[in-house]
Amino acid sequence: MKERLESLGSEALAKIEQAADLKTLDAVRVAYLGRKGKLTAILRGLGQASPDERREIGQRANVLKEELGKRLDARKETLEAAAQQQQAQSEFVDLTLPGRCPRAGSMHVINQICDEIVDIFTQMGFQVAVGPDVETEYYNFDALNTPDDHPARDSHDTFFVKPGVVLRTQTSPVQMRVMEQTPPPVAVVVPGRVYRVDLDATHSPMFVQMEGLLVDKNITFADLKGTLMHFIYTFFGKNTQVRFRPHFFPFTEPSAEVDILWTARDRHTGEVKSKWLEILGCGMVHPEVFRYASYDYEAYSGYAFGLGIDRIAMVRHAISSITHLYENDLRFLEQF
Ligand code: DAH
Repeated sequence: MKERLESLGSEALAKIEQAADLKTLDAVRVAYLGRKGKLTAILRGLGQASPDERREIGQRANVLKEELGKRLDARKETLEAAAQQQQAQSEFVDLTLPGRCPRAGSMHVINQICDEIVDIFTQMGFQVAVGPDVETEYYNFDALNTPDDHPARDSHDTFFVKPGVVLRTQTSPVQMRVMEQTPPPVAVVVPGRVYRVDLDATHSPMFVQMEGLLVDKNITFADLKGTLMHFIYTFFGKNTQVRFRPHFFPFTEPSAEVDILWTARDRHTGEVKSKWLEILGCGMVHPEVFRYASYDYEAYSGYAFGLGIDRIAMVRHAISSITHLYENDLRFLEQF
C-alpha cells in the first residue's frame, strides 16, 4: 500500500510537470484528486486497513494530497502566464507604425486650363454650351459653309464613323446647334474634345478645343479683338505681345489667326528664346452660316473663335510634346 502510494505520487508529479496546457493539467487533477481519482480511491480504501497502517498511510496520503494540490496550483499559474503572454503577442498592435495616406487625385492639367479659360469668358457674360463628339457631316462641315468639294476639308483628316457621320474635327459645329436652338443674341463658349487623323509632337488624334460664338446687333471685328485681347492679357499676362494674322476659314469672313510671342528659357541650354505661337483662329461669322441658322444676317452680325486648349496648356507649362498630355503617366500628371 505504501509503495503504491509512493509510485502514485511520483507518477502524478511527473504528469503535472509534463502538462503543456491548462486542459491537460485539469485532466491530471481529476485523475488523481477528483472524486473518482486514484489518490481519493486510496484514501477511501483506508477503512479496510489496520489501525497502524491507517494512521501512517493516512498521514502520508494527506501530505501527498496537499503537495499535489500545491504543484497543480503552481503549474497552473505558470501555464496561465504563458497563455496570457501568447495572447498578448498575437494581439499586439504596433502603435508606432506610420498611418497609410490615401492617394489624393487631382484634376487633369487640360481640365485645369480649360476651367480657367471658361471662367474668363463666363465672367464676360458668355454661357457654356456643349455638343456631341460623334457628329453629322452636315454640322461638322456643310452647315459651316464647307461643302463636299471645299478645299478646307483637306486640312481636316477626318475619322468617319459611317457615311455622313464623323468624329467632330472641331467644336465649330456646336455654333450651328446653338443658333438652331436660340434666337439672337447669343454668347457661348464650347469646350470639348475633337478628333483628327494626325499624330506627331504637336498633333494628337484627340485634342481639346474651345469654341466661342457671339451674335448681336452691331458686332464688329473690334469687339472680337477686344474680347480676345482681354482673354489673352488675363490668361498670359498684361505684357503679352499679340499678332492677328489674316487667315482663311470657310465659316468666317474676314478670318484671322492669333499668335502670341512666347518667351521661355530653354530647359537644357538655359538660353532665353522668343517665338510666335498660334493659339487660336477667329473671324466674323460668314453670312452663309447665318443663312443655315435662319438668322437675319442683315440685322445681326457676330464673331467666332476657336482656341486650342492643348496648345495653350503646352505654352503655359512649357510641355514639349502633346502626347504627354494623353499618355496618363502619373509621373507627368502629378506635376500640375
Ligand atoms: N474650327 C477651327 C479649327 O479647328 C478653329 C476656328 C477658326 C474656329 C475660326 C472658329 C473660327 O470659330 O471663327 O481649325
